[in-house]
Amino acid sequence: MWRFVHLTDTHLGGDRDDDGFHRIIRTSMPDAITCLRRDLARIAPDFVLITGDIAAAQHRDAYFAARDLLDSFSVPYYPLAGNCDHAHEEGRRYFVEAFQPHLPGGDTHFMFTHKGLRFIALDPWWVRSDGSLAPHRVSPDSPLRWAVPPAQFELLQETLASDADTPTVVACHYPLAEPEPPPETEALHRGGLEDADALLDTLSAHPQVRLYLCGHAHRHHIQPLGGESSRVRQVITAAFCEYPVEFRVIEVGETHLELTTAGLSTPQFAEASLIEANRWTAGDDAHRSLRVSLQAAD
Ligand SMILES: [Fe+2]
Repeated sequence: MWRFVHLTDTHLGGDRDDDGFHRIIRTSMPDAITCLRRDLARIAPDFVLITGDIAAAQHRDAYFAARDLLDSFSVPYYPLAGNCDHAHEEGRRYFVEAFQPHLPGGDTHFMFTHKGLRFIALDPWWVRSDGSLAPHRVSPDSPLRWAVPPAQFELLQETLASDADTPTVVACHYPLAEPEPPPETEALHRGGLEDADALLDTLSAHPQVRLYLCGHAHRHHIQPLGGESSRVRQVITAAFCEYPVEFRVIEVGETHLELTTAGLSTPQFAEASLIEANRWTAGDDAHRSLRVSLQAAD
């Protein structure tokens, strides 16, 4: 048995708190990361997988400040970029520069296999109004649409087709399917993947793909994807910078993955971040834990 941690949407370096979702984004994130560092020492994951929106600001210092905070974990970590990380032309360069030692192959899309479990990390690009793709947001009013570049998509297909036996986790910043809006309130419209259907067709066609881990939606949410025959489960973890300031622990056994949400050992961050009307970001029990078979026959 071994474990890894899924962390997402840390938005480190936020320049102001507000009365909405971001009550503690500026004042408490460094302290929350310090608390997480202590908690990780106790949890002892093999690594932390961070699915994007790591930095809140797009200047070079912000990426390196975020890198220093994450390096303080003294635990290996794999960083994926999100739309906030690649919102400006220089952002992609700064991201790679800051996180180079943590990127397998030195690129923002990568794959690796750890103790028999394969991980494939995708890095969708921004979709321009003419349908072409750009590695960063072209203008501040560009629509919130992203798609996996063709070469990256082909690599995903080739990798999945070449080895049907290795259980696989696909990770990306963006959900493949937007969750239903929470009851009695409205989730923010955060945009989505333009090629979600094609991606889902590919993942569903390969039974070794058991899990799609992502962030971006800023709430705990779990749902099956791809119809009856698909084994793909989409697991969204809530933003670490917002209530309930949590992450997920994924225990990897011989036959199953066990996913559970976990909070910081110091409850003050969750308490300080809570806006009653936004309590839905924590998800109910159905969205906080999941058992996933790794057996080909299941
Ligand atoms: Fe995002």
